[in-house]
Amino acid sequence: MILRIAVALAAVASALVSVNVPANSEQSEANAKAAEKSVDWPVYGGSPENNHYSSLVQINRANVKQLAVAWSFDTDEEGGLQTSPIIVNGVLYGITPTQRVFALDAATGKLKWKFDSGIKGTQPDRGLSYWTDRRSSRILVGVTNFLYALDAATGKPFPTFGKQGHIDLRENLGRQPTKSQSIYLTSPGIVYKDLVIVGGRNPETLPAPPGNIRAYDVRTGKLRWSFHTIPHPGEYGYGTWPKQAWKTSGAANNWAGMALDAKRGILYVPTGSAAFDFYGGDRLGNDLFANCLIALNAGNGKRLWHFQAVRHDVWDRDFPSAPALLTVRHDGKEVAAVAQTTKQGFVYLFERVSGRPLFPIECKKYPPSDVPGEATAAEQPLPTRPAPFARQNLTEDLLTNRTPEVHQWAVEKFRTFRSEGQFVPFSIGKDTVIFPGFDGGAEWGGPAVDPATGIIYINANEMAWTGALAENTGENSPKGIYLSQCGVCHGEKMAGSPPAIPTLIGVADRIPWKQIAMTIKNGKGRMPGFPNLTDDQMSALVDYLTSGESKEVKRSGRPLVAMKFRFTGYKKFLDPEGYPAVAPPWGTLNAINLNTGEYVWKIPLGAYPELAAKGMSNTGTENYGGPIVTAGGLLFIGATNFDKRFRAYDKSTGELLWETTLPFAGNATPATYEVQGRQFVVIAAGGGKDPKSRSGGIYVAFALPAE
Ligand code: HEC
Repeated sequence: MILRIAVALAAVASALVSVNVPANSEQSEANAKAAEKSVDWPVYGGSPENNHYSSLVQINRANVKQLAVAWSFDTDEEGGLQTSPIIVNGVLYGITPTQRVFALDAATGKLKWKFDSGIKGTQPDRGLSYWTDRRSSRILVGVTNFLYALDAATGKPFPTFGKQGHIDLRENLGRQPTKSQSIYLTSPGIVYKDLVIVGGRNPETLPAPPGNIRAYDVRTGKLRWSFHTIPHPGEYGYGTWPKQAWKTSGAANNWAGMALDAKRGILYVPTGSAAFDFYGGDRLGNDLFANCLIALNAGNGKRLWHFQAVRHDVWDRDFPSAPALLTVRHDGKEVAAVAQTTKQGFVYLFERVSGRPLFPIECKKYPPSDVPGEATAAEQPLPTRPAPFARQNLTEDLLTNRTPEVHQWAVEKFRTFRSEGQFVPFSIGKDTVIFPGFDGGAEWGGPAVDPATGIIYINANEMAWTGALAENTGENSPKGIYLSQCGVCHGEKMAGSPPAIPTLIGVADRIPWKQIAMTIKNGKGRMPGFPNLTDDQMSALVDYLTSGESKEVKRSGRPLVAMKFRFTGYKKFLDPEGYPAVAPPWGTLNAINLNTGEYVWKIPLGAYPELAAKGMSNTGTENYGGPIVTAGGLLFIGATNFDKRFRAYDKSTGELLWETTLPFAGNATPATYEVQGRQFVVIAAGGGKDPKSRSGGIYVAFALPAE
């Protein structure tokens, strides 16, 4: 008999280690062998420090070529997965594309339980959290606007948590009606003692609720503290907004996740821009705590320090990833540090307790906005080291050379744009280049850091996007609603920006009326929901999409907050065949030594299979989902949109040691763990970002062949 004893089973431990030990000394040799340790991946990002690191060495440089599929679990759903599962005591907890929650035997992939809340989720749900007090263990997981507490053993909601096992995240935000708000947990909460601390995904257009950071009692679901990212009167930062902004402005939210220094009780919270993303005439000022890295006392939510990377953001330059905590050698001393990556391609490094930057930050001047009512900041703070991990200024010599014709096309198009690097405000009537694009630079997968070396590993996109502003008519017609709320992504003429954003031309031929309305209400993928639309507005809008007719909507409904200007579209700068109109690399993987700020290596990440077949390999491609790094000398990453590969690199050199093809693109961060002496690496493969292939939802686990 094997008696399972959980050692160091604390919810805040950086790696939960449970050890199987023989019950008595009469164990056979076979049992002694089975007594090898199990190592968990108990927290989203691997640990509260979010280092994406594992001390496991069984799979290593010497044998990684022998990796093979150990098991796979098909959720039998479509829609794609961005989920990184957690593994505790030999059980893997995951989420399906429609946000059902399940538990598997982590050694075999056999289903233990599945929980269906009855709500069909349509947006990304990137992870879950685990809490235990040894008597009971809970899985805390977001399902659309709700946070559920499930019994880890059975998957049943705890009736004593909130209302029958869940809380409604739209409550307690000071915005009414509750039901027209939208707060989705794209990233899981952080567990600290008996608190679960959450941010959320908010709408990017007004009206949008504020991005309060909130801590709930893990047992009862009661709100314990709330930090206002849009300060109330009397609170620090209140003067960086107009007086009423705390009631009318929105977002400044944490959608990318957080990191926790459990020993010091410090929570690190990166935030995104305020709503509306691209015009800030109604939020003049620096807008603290939008676009900030905020250090909070995890126990009571009090601010310790903050750093604002973008003042008065009008470029959607959210902090896109949770920070990573590590120790670096700096000026001959060991320093506890926090590293934060950005969409622009920067890495900021701070001393963890004081917030002092470890490499100098310089303020640079940028041109003012020429849009009426807008006032952008004169200066923005940039790190002097490390050098950016993506190109910063798109110039003619950086345009595609895929064919001479395509190059010529790109040059002509490019000459119609304004392109002067970072922080050039958008204008009316002329497109401005954002490079790297709205999707980074760094993205939500986040970096990995190796505690042994102080090296940070960052995968990045290197695409150019463009955008411009146009005046809003403010009319309460379906066309007016469309232009102010939808045109930002689907474009003025509904053509979208395929593949990332679908065209809505002819949408009625593809999708039934009811389903269009559901998509608008609940959102889908990277499209937020619009629960703020009244029934009248909704049906007029769907009629407009399907018939092109735009009639004035009855004034019975709540008026939409009319934003003075609208964005004419997230447009990717693609060539006529759909490939990036900039020269490769289009996606990269970077290793940077944070002790020195120097690059260790940098390689393209990903390929278009059809271009590679014609000899254009090593282009790199857009990629989403982060890396993990192990003591076995390996870096594992999927992420690439088009080649569906899952790869293992030598973490010291960037040499590709192993790769395999997944059933769908693995747009998710992998996890690694050991059960009874066998190490596994698991990744969620769901695809969905390549319009040429289907999406699904399969978890695939790899291991060395069993002896
Ligand atoms: C932030 C960007 C964004 C905004 C704002 C936005 N959408 Fe979308 N929309 C998307 C994306 C991305 C998809 C594809 C989602 C997927 O399939 O994963 C989509 C999908 C859709 C679809 C389904 C189309 C299809 O072919 O499957 C409809 C209908 C739609 N959007 C309508 C709207 C309307 C109406 C509005 C305004 C009320 C709106 N969208 C606002 C990004 C956006």
